[in-house]
Amino acid sequence: MDRRDFLKSGSALVATASFSANLPAQQPSSMETGRLDLPVNRGWLYSPRVVEGAHERTFDDANFEKVVIPHTNIKLSWHAFDDKDYEFISVYRRHFKLPPEARGNNIFVDFEGVMTASTVYINGKKLGEYKGGYTPFSFDLTPHVDYAGDNVLSVEVDSTERADIPPFGYQIDYMTFGGIYREVSLRIVPQVFIENMVARTKNVLAAPRLDVEYYLQNTGYPTKAITIEATLLHGDTSLGTTKHEQPLPAKASEPEKLTLSFPSIDKVELWDLDNPNLYTLRLRLLHGSKLVDEQTRRFGFREAMFTDQGFSLNGNIIKLRGLDRHQTFPFVGQAMPARVQRRDALLLKHQLHTNIVRTSHYPQSRHFLDACDEIGLLVLEEIPGWQHIGPLPWQDISVDNVGRMIRRDWNHPSIILWGVRINESRDNHDFYTRTNALAHQLDPSRQTGGIRYFQESEFLEDVFTMNDFGWPLKPPIHGKYLNTEFVGHTYPVKQIDDDERHREHTIRHARVHDQLASNPQYAGGIGWCAFDYNTHYDFGAGDRICYHGVSDIFREPKPAASFYMSQIAPEKAVVLEPAFHWASSDEATHFSIAMVCSNCEHVKLAYKSKDKGDWVQVAEGDPDRQQFPHLKYAPFSFNVADVKQDFGDLRIEGYIGGKLVATKYMSGQGVDQKFVLLPDDAELMADGADTTRVVMRVTDEYGNIRPYANDPITLTLEGPAELIGDNPFALFGGHGAVWIRAKESTGKVKLTAKHPRLGEQAVEINIASAAAERA
Ligand code: GAL
Repeated sequence: MDRRDFLKSGSALVATASFSANLPAQQPSSMETGRLDLPVNRGWLYSPRVVEGAHERTFDDANFEKVVIPHTNIKLSWHAFDDKDYEFISVYRRHFKLPPEARGNNIFVDFEGVMTASTVYINGKKLGEYKGGYTPFSFDLTPHVDYAGDNVLSVEVDSTERADIPPFGYQIDYMTFGGIYREVSLRIVPQVFIENMVARTKNVLAAPRLDVEYYLQNTGYPTKAITIEATLLHGDTSLGTTKHEQPLPAKASEPEKLTLSFPSIDKVELWDLDNPNLYTLRLRLLHGSKLVDEQTRRFGFREAMFTDQGFSLNGNIIKLRGLDRHQTFPFVGQAMPARVQRRDALLLKHQLHTNIVRTSHYPQSRHFLDACDEIGLLVLEEIPGWQHIGPLPWQDISVDNVGRMIRRDWNHPSIILWGVRINESRDNHDFYTRTNALAHQLDPSRQTGGIRYFQESEFLEDVFTMNDFGWPLKPPIHGKYLNTEFVGHTYPVKQIDDDERHREHTIRHARVHDQLASNPQYAGGIGWCAFDYNTHYDFGAGDRICYHGVSDIFREPKPAASFYMSQIAPEKAVVLEPAFHWASSDEATHFSIAMVCSNCEHVKLAYKSKDKGDWVQVAEGDPDRQQFPHLKYAPFSFNVADVKQDFGDLRIEGYIGGKLVATKYMSGQGVDQKFVLLPDDAELMADGADTTRVVMRVTDEYGNIRPYANDPITLTLEGPAELIGDNPFALFGGHGAVWIRAKESTGKVKLTAKHPRLGEQAVEINIASAAAERA
């Protein structure tokens, strides 16, 4: 992008809210485990404007709207709206009663993500303001709660782009949206509790060891020592326990860092991309036979490091091939629940066949990261920011973001690199010395990177992570060198663009990976980007979208996605994907060259001759090693200009070892034939937030997209769910999607979608019961 004026600044205050790396969904939630983690996502009351007195406990909130978290402060179109639409201050209120067990314990509220600044009140008492939309924060409610009566949490959410908070202060090429968009919970913990913990694996390839670093906070527990018990679990099976007496840290408002080591552990199964083996570490605080507190964390045994010969996972060099991901979605911005976050990871791994994702440009949902752990998808996670560095107070927030990101996510085996610079900013020696030092101090096991756009940049990190949009790529100038962005704005492509443009898009991604494959010093590349995304006025195509994805904003693949899909060993999945559309046309841009992305060894194309009534071979060949000499699975290019004379359906055949392993047909008729509805899930939970996508496509008779279908689809939803999306929905490039969000009652939901000519399709989704919230 154009480089910005880096001198603009705003005033800033240092964030004061504390943060506990609490993971409510993974923790048992009963006082039997010493603590209570109570989700408080349902039953919020919302006002899109600030109302006098709204933070008081007795305020009459009958006119507020009942909402469930994740919540967006305003519903939007999927494009062509203004960021000013979501830039306002809103108020959220949540009444709650504490369970009787809460007495005598500490009570915290944990927010996982609120965009952008949150001033939090409990029972009318202001607790403070947290500045930052992508990082978690907590407040101590203990001195202010009413154990017997009604309590009211009230949050004033400032979703304006405040120059004092990263990433703001100048322009940014993505939208930030507004609202309490990640989960909230109450954490009720005893007078001494585990504030955080991290499994430190060592020497995993030879003789694995496991150390535990944990953070104890004592707010006045009435003993001098406590027993610590750590257990390594694989599923439910215990693989060993270690136990010792531990003097209690002094009573304090901050936790104390302590460590313990397992004396020995047996052979473990490593976490890797094909077998992402996960273990659980359980830590207990015991007072005699009484369980005082318990926490578990999931982690993996793996050795991940960037070397001068590339990225090494468990001693094997793996060429990194990935895409950048923004966490934004059509209509609701970032307010999507676990299932939808997880789906993106599944698409990246199982549809696009990437092995790494970068969480550009901020820490993303823990659900997304959990899915990456479970499926074996590597992650480069980075702090919030885009090109601009603010003054010192702004930098202080950014340094604090490094800590919050790492302390939240250090147990994820999928994360292999911390991004500790503001994406594409200028050098700033003092600032980046601080971010690197903090990252290394908190997590000596992981290397740091920091995404830059100029090679002369001062190299304070361990890995030189570089956005290189040029062609050919710059030679690597450091041993550990990773390309973190390419293609993007240099070649945006919409689903409705013609084949020539799609082909060029595909080639640009492929040739970068080809060059990356030519030199082991390139650890690999992460292309810009996975999915199209909403952006500001200064960027994008003129409708507030950057069409930079290999998939569109609905997560539907474009032809360039075929290249990524095809870069997988055929033993795992045979891929035969045309990177073009096929239909009778006399436009010069069509069909002179047909690109097929495939991991087959040989491909044959034949068309159904109108004259002869039979299949006529038009071309056959091996991968295009002239254009892509280094790729293991190079795309195929065929000259099909001759077919124009006698146009018909196309047959593509893929061969490995001389055997036919895949066949694909494409219609030559040029007629929209089918309208299909494809739900991602058949069941949702009745928790008011659970959501799934329903894809809509117009295809030919074989299921290939008809790229110019733009028909209005009329939608009818019956049952206990809400439709997220336009209705009618106008297809764009033959594709589209809406989301179905469960309400809080069980039942059957039916979505009927009517195409003006191709008829009606319907899908049913079961809404299953969800646990009630206790507070
Ligand atoms: C880069 C930037 C990304 C995105 C991309 C578009 O400069 O880091 O956030 O704007 O350009 O190609």
